[in-house]
Amino acid sequence: MSKKEAVETSESQIAVHWEEEQYFYPSPTFVGQANLTDESVYDRFSLDNFPECFHEYAELLDWDKYWNKTLDTSDAPCWKWFTGGRLNVSYNCVDRHLAKNANKTAIHFVPEPEGEKIDHITYQELYIRVNEIAALLRDFAGLKRGDRVTIHMPMSAELPITMLACARLGVIHSVVFGGFSANACADRIVDSQSRVLITMDAYYRNGHLLNHKVAADEAAEISAKQGQVVDKVLIWQRYPGKYSSKTPLVEGRDVIVNEKIKEFYGARVKPESMKAEEPLFLMYTSGTTGKPKGCQHSTGGYLAYAAGTSKYIQDIHPEDVYWCMADIGWITGHSYIVYGPLALCASSVIYEGVPTFPDAGRSWRIAQDLNVNIFHTAPTTIRALRKLGPDEPAKYSFKFKHMTTVGEPIEPEVWKWYHREVGKGVAIIVDTWWQTETGGFLCSTIPGIKPMKPGSAGPGVPGIHPIIYDDEGQVIERGSGRAGNICIQNPWPGQFQTIWGDRKRFVDTYFSRYCKNSESKDWRDWPYLAGDAAMEAEDGYYRILGRIDDVINVSGHRLGTKEIESAAMTVDEVAEAAVVPVAHDIKGKEPDLYIALKTGVQPSVELQEKISAAVCSQIGKIAKPRKVWLVPDMPKTRSGKIMRRVLGAISNNKDVGDVMTLANPDVVEVIKGMIKN
Ligand code: WT7
Repeated sequence: MSKKEAVETSESQIAVHWEEEQYFYPSPTFVGQANLTDESVYDRFSLDNFPECFHEYAELLDWDKYWNKTLDTSDAPCWKWFTGGRLNVSYNCVDRHLAKNANKTAIHFVPEPEGEKIDHITYQELYIRVNEIAALLRDFAGLKRGDRVTIHMPMSAELPITMLACARLGVIHSVVFGGFSANACADRIVDSQSRVLITMDAYYRNGHLLNHKVAADEAAEISAKQGQVVDKVLIWQRYPGKYSSKTPLVEGRDVIVNEKIKEFYGARVKPESMKAEEPLFLMYTSGTTGKPKGCQHSTGGYLAYAAGTSKYIQDIHPEDVYWCMADIGWITGHSYIVYGPLALCASSVIYEGVPTFPDAGRSWRIAQDLNVNIFHTAPTTIRALRKLGPDEPAKYSFKFKHMTTVGEPIEPEVWKWYHREVGKGVAIIVDTWWQTETGGFLCSTIPGIKPMKPGSAGPGVPGIHPIIYDDEGQVIERGSGRAGNICIQNPWPGQFQTIWGDRKRFVDTYFSRYCKNSESKDWRDWPYLAGDAAMEAEDGYYRILGRIDDVINVSGHRLGTKEIESAAMTVDEVAEAAVVPVAHDIKGKEPDLYIALKTGVQPSVELQEKISAAVCSQIGKIAKPRKVWLVPDMPKTRSGKIMRRVLGAISNNKDVGDVMTLANPDVVEVIKGMIKN
């Protein structure tokens, strides 16, 4: 991307943005019980006290052996936290709670069909189940420390149980969002070199029991073609004891976990004592090129950061019932459904299905029935709940003390509805800005200390020191309200360690742009480029304006435009493809797909459908284009570059600006005409 385009993106984003908003203050009741009310935390976590300040987070965990170096910078910018230290994540999320809280609920699993029983899994039961599956993974599947395993599972209690079993063995899990297609799953199997795939036969979504296991067969077939053989597919049953998929089992490869596990009843597996810097998991995310990046997260630094931010920003106490509506297949689910809350011994709710199924009151009935007091979701869901049932929350007696919004900027109107109706005017809201790469929150208000400001994430959380650069590499003055590219000046424990198998891409993507000296071992020379445009207001609150790269945020999920374009290009008739984001009132953004067909191919509705289907099957339904436009030609620069900016303006009914310098300015009017009709 040229510098010029980067500026255009951020400025157009600002143009659609809102005015400065009034503060909302936390209630004395909230502050009275908050985990963090001492303002000196900002001094304790100042840059002067970096990196030692992060002891506070590491000390929330039980270590087999304490670390001797807080931050090792010798392999800059692949930072290592708490080196010399050893610990096990499953021990920290399960075993250590048994002494006092064995009978407390760790996980409430809520099935989508409302008539089905909610499963309340105690820490004791979690301990037993994690051990048994760990024994199966080790002794039957042959998995050992350092191996990678791909998990393609829907929202279920078995998903965190499987993740924790991997963590117990030191096996690196790569969880693929259940809604992703077999193709997307296969890409991740190949990249992570997994020989074991763990899946589930079926799950409910919007009232339908979906056949999920079929994706495992396709994924295994595709990955084998690319040279990565899956020799074992382990299948959990949605209904234990009953196989709920129509797809037959493959002899010698497929194994029903619920049956096999019987051989391991009563098994106990000693937690592996992992080095703090050994990887815990990979989480793939989209970037500027077609290939998803496997973000590699560490054991000690990651868990310390997930636990610390869960305690101080989510304000989780062990007695809380906490419900994060994200999917565990995304980073939010890893950090703030599984690892953070369980490390703190909270009760975490896992809901299988759609928040508005069978009606817009469903979420509020779940909250009421389980006494949920901390609630965490994304603007796209809040917009859907508001649209379908603006008066529903008032009909139920749940009472939240704390609510989170995450994933994309939230419109102040939506924020205020969330506060007034869902929070019943008393819950505090934290708007948390972060990323798959960052493991945990970067910007947010500390709920018991800072007032809220609708539409702004807030200042850096303790130990996170943002800085905004312009495109020329100059620092934008603090508090100036001028937009630029937000970076973090310092490393932090939750930060990913590298891109799996691609250190160069890691350095190029996140550090090269503002690196002061590529030979340096000093963290001060390596600002982390987040890839978002942002501005800092006078009060030190950051407002996130959107991505500066080719990433579209659809319903809070990251999709690379290049990924969608490559998927479209798999259709034979397609010559060129370009994707642009279009505003959508619930999803935030939606991809609009422009296609130029090969010479001689006639446009047709069938072709449009074929291309759309190709995108869904390559990536997943979340990437489905709003519309596939079959255009006679793409607007291009004289050097032949497709002008996505012009297409974006057309899709969003905005002024296309001056197009006379294009190689083919006439096509702009033609495309405009097509879209109007
Ligand atoms: C991108 C990261 C972090 C978990 C969910 C998404 C956008 C995230 C906010 C927020 C405005 C936000 C950014 C970021 N984003 N949180 N509170 N306000 N924008 O993780 O899929 O890695 O996406 O989501 O653009 O870069 P992800």
